[in-house]
Amino acid sequence: MSTTRIANAALRAKVTTAETAAALIPSGTTLGLSGFTGSGYPKAVSLALAARIEAAHAAGDPFLVKVWTGASTGPELDGALAKADGIEFRLPYNSDPIARQKINSGKMSYFDMHLSQVAPMAWQGFLGPLDIAVIEVAGIRADGSLIPSSSIGNNKTWLDRAGKVILEVNHWQSAALEGMHDIYYGTALPPNRVPIPLVRPQDRIGEAYLRCDPEKVIAIVETDTPDRNAPYSPPDAVAGAIAGHLIEFLRHEVAKGRLPSSLLPLQSGVGNITNAVLAGLLDAPFENLTSYTEVIQDGMIDLIDAGKLTFASATAFSVSPDAAQKLNADMARYRDKMILRPQEISNHPELVRRLGCIAMNGLIEADIYGNVNSTHIMGSYIQNGIGGSGDFARNAFLSIFMTPSTAKKGAISAIVPQVSHVDHITQDVQVIITEQGLADLRGLSPKQRARVIIANCAHPDYRPALEDYYRRAQAGSYGQQTPCLPGESLSWHKSYLETGSMLPR
Ligand code: COA
Repeated sequence: MSTTRIANAALRAKVTTAETAAALIPSGTTLGLSGFTGSGYPKAVSLALAARIEAAHAAGDPFLVKVWTGASTGPELDGALAKADGIEFRLPYNSDPIARQKINSGKMSYFDMHLSQVAPMAWQGFLGPLDIAVIEVAGIRADGSLIPSSSIGNNKTWLDRAGKVILEVNHWQSAALEGMHDIYYGTALPPNRVPIPLVRPQDRIGEAYLRCDPEKVIAIVETDTPDRNAPYSPPDAVAGAIAGHLIEFLRHEVAKGRLPSSLLPLQSGVGNITNAVLAGLLDAPFENLTSYTEVIQDGMIDLIDAGKLTFASATAFSVSPDAAQKLNADMARYRDKMILRPQEISNHPELVRRLGCIAMNGLIEADIYGNVNSTHIMGSYIQNGIGGSGDFARNAFLSIFMTPSTAKKGAISAIVPQVSHVDHITQDVQVIITEQGLADLRGLSPKQRARVIIANCAHPDYRPALEDYYRRAQAGSYGQQTPCLPGESLSWHKSYLETGSMLPR
């Protein structure tokens, strides 16, 4: 492979193989890896490291590393290292199925955290020392600064904090990415923090390149490997109905004068439903939309193509292989309509509050009072993690959660008497939408919320049982502010675990 993307001669001399680079990582290392969703993660060094770990384990050597990333990554990183049983500890977000299995079987420690808080926690020293950063970039400039790749995540912080750096220069990434990024170096710890000077999603407040001390670079590996995001499922009738309720609600808010006709900057969470909702906005009567979000999904690219979305700010692309190809082929045009930033800025509570984002996130289950569980199935099995949903939900102008009303072919109700795990408390949940309807919880007391959630959001198969529970809770509850029957409120989950269904018998 040519070294045309490495313009610095001293750094060019450090080009080596993935195997040689991986050999520089000893057992016990804490690694700061690039990667956010399936974009911009190292693809060669991680695979070589996994092979090295497998060989070490076969020889009886208990080789383990600690892994910090931006968010989820791809199969060549989380998948390969988890398969090799090489990860001792992982933060802050995972969606890899093999890593998920290792976490839930108790083999891997996992610290699931708000994505905006990862970098500050690292600066504050709460996470301990960082040994080696392994960062994918699109190129290296003559002055040694780095052209970022398809995600920024925590790269700025990892490059700054790590004692040593390994770079992967990925030729698959479009060279036209150069200039799209905005790396803000003005963050400080209290008591020296100052306001972040961003007032519109399109504002540039930093630099287009990542700073990197060339002395710290111990190896550079060249790759030509695509990002690997999974394709989205095509929107189905349920997703279409959810999008319909959302659009009707947004139209109503515009009519009431509570939202401008261009809405407010949209944040769209991960998952098929949130992506499908973006598709619904294609035919909605809103123009000149903007987005201040964590990931740019297929739906946003389509909105840009349709001239509906004028600007998107995020920290990463989370696009299907088809959309990635389209983006790469035409990056010079898309580049003017997008910015990728560090995740402590894309998800910053100060900025989400200032811009007045409309947060739209998925959920696992919600209870009749509007508490939301985004992470844990049956209270104990982690699906992915909280990601950025908390960063946005608490600080948004409008905090919306969306879900099909049932899961597992109707055997599970997404609306339950009590969530089995709480990620978002009722105060951070303003609107819940299922294909059945929409519950606008703003200004409602707990009892009012229960009535509207059961009536509007629950699936008809579960509505009578929820009404029955709520009636009995009012009669038998210790207090009347948030009536509940503690012995019974999780019985739906117990029933699923015992019989494979929450459906009343
Ligand atoms: N009980 C049990 N299982 C449930 C469930 C419930 N109430 N709801 C969903 N599931 C299961 C689904 O059956 C599916 O299982 P499978 O993989 O075995 O098929 C899995 O959870 C994922 O559900 P799906 O409907 O495909 O979800 P999605 O793609 O719409 O994502 C979340 C939903 C909640 C998992 C996803 O939005 C998430 O990870 N959120 C947290 C992070 C976040 O919000 N980030 C955004 C910040 S920008």
